Amino acid sequence: MDNFIIHGGRTVSGEVKISGSKNAALPILAATMLTREKCEIKNVPDLMDIKSTFELLNYMGKRCFFGFNTFTVHETSGLKHHAPYDLVRKMRASMLVAGPLLARFKKVRFSLPGGCSIGVRPIDIHLEAFKKMGAAVSYEGGDVILTAARLRPARLKFRFPSVGATENLMMCASLLKGTTVLENCAREPEIEDLARALVKMGASVEGAGTSLIRISGVDELKGLKYEVMPDRIETGTFMLAAAAAGGTLKLLNTDIALMKPVARALKKAGVKITSEKGSITITSSGGRPKPVNIATKPHPGFPTDLQAPWMAFMARAKGSCEVHEAIFENRFMHAAELMRMGADITVTDRKAVIRGVERLLGAPVMASDIRAGAALIVAAVAAKGKSIIRRIYHIDRGYEKIENKLRLSGVRIERVKA
Ligand code: EPZ
Repeated sequence: MDNFIIHGGRTVSGEVKISGSKNAALPILAATMLTREKCEIKNVPDLMDIKSTFELLNYMGKRCFFGFNTFTVHETSGLKHHAPYDLVRKMRASMLVAGPLLARFKKVRFSLPGGCSIGVRPIDIHLEAFKKMGAAVSYEGGDVILTAARLRPARLKFRFPSVGATENLMMCASLLKGTTVLENCAREPEIEDLARALVKMGASVEGAGTSLIRISGVDELKGLKYEVMPDRIETGTFMLAAAAAGGTLKLLNTDIALMKPVARALKKAGVKITSEKGSITITSSGGRPKPVNIATKPHPGFPTDLQAPWMAFMARAKGSCEVHEAIFENRFMHAAELMRMGADITVTDRKAVIRGVERLLGAPVMASDIRAGAALIVAAVAAKGKSIIRRIYHIDRGYEKIENKLRLSGVRIERVKA
């Protein structure tokens, strides 16, 4: 297992190219299961989760090629309908093949994705919706089996705007004649990106980005040529690293329109943000920021995936502030690691109180999930002295070539074998 060694306390400067969005690419790659025609997806980030998807689609019988951020998928004969445990346990997003396979073959078997460090993450919303569309659900040996003599369009009201359930049901309904309506569905920008891809494949999808989406499907979907949107969580992570360390950092191939809740909070903390078409510039003194409370919410609220990096930034605030994590029940694992670097944080259930300290100090710390790892990078870049971040395979799941991008920004970072 690799570690990062970071010598913090230097300002950042220069330009960083933001990669394509992991959380937009994963459902769009799953959508290639909906068609027998060739698909070519560009701006796909080179990440562990994409490699896992490559493995999964090939296992299911597609023939995939991935290079220079372009992912190509060809059909072969005899697609499998089973996403096995050892692939699903590596990446929960593997279950996004459920909607496409159920629609195409009226049967799918996939391993119940176990929980992960940030929460139990059940899939009841997905299964309830599939049942309403006519699927029978059964369980065997840790797998879920969905079968349907025939699927029918339905009006589905989600009890919670689940991102994955919205994506799964959009894809399922796209290959089904008639109109399916999703109510109280997720509004994330990645949902809009998937909708644009499904429309290019021949479905009609209206309302993506709002809480009511109408999907009118067809019998056959076409192949796809598509370019994935920028990664707004990577963008936010670099914005926070620059805000915490100080300096001027220009982020390219991204879009300020994706960053509203984070930009609003950063400006309140005293960080200067300017933007032009396709780029965002952060200017920060690297001094102690003003304390700003945040609460994570479904989009368009503050994204839960930036809660941990935000907490790292607020660790040096000039005063106290609160972070409320409303989406996942166990997403404060990074707090204890930040405290090893001198942060003063009290966690009670889903609330963290951060009392800002003058200085963070480098220390050996451990990543527990993708975004907790990102938080440790933000803290280590701003901290005085040397930090060692362990279990960076978590970070590799969500950030493409992060050490190269940080080094280009002036950060002293190296990847070492543990
Ligand atoms: C997506 O996960 C993202 N992953 C997550 O990013 C992100 O944190 C999350 O959305 C919220 O924005 C991908 O897009 C691949 P949800 P997803 O279904 O779809 C509960 C990262 O770091 N829930 O919106 O799994 C669930 O337990 C990852 O890139 C149910 O109870 O998120 C959670 O508390 C982490 N039943 C909440 O809803 C269900 O059937 C949000 O889950 C489904 C979800």
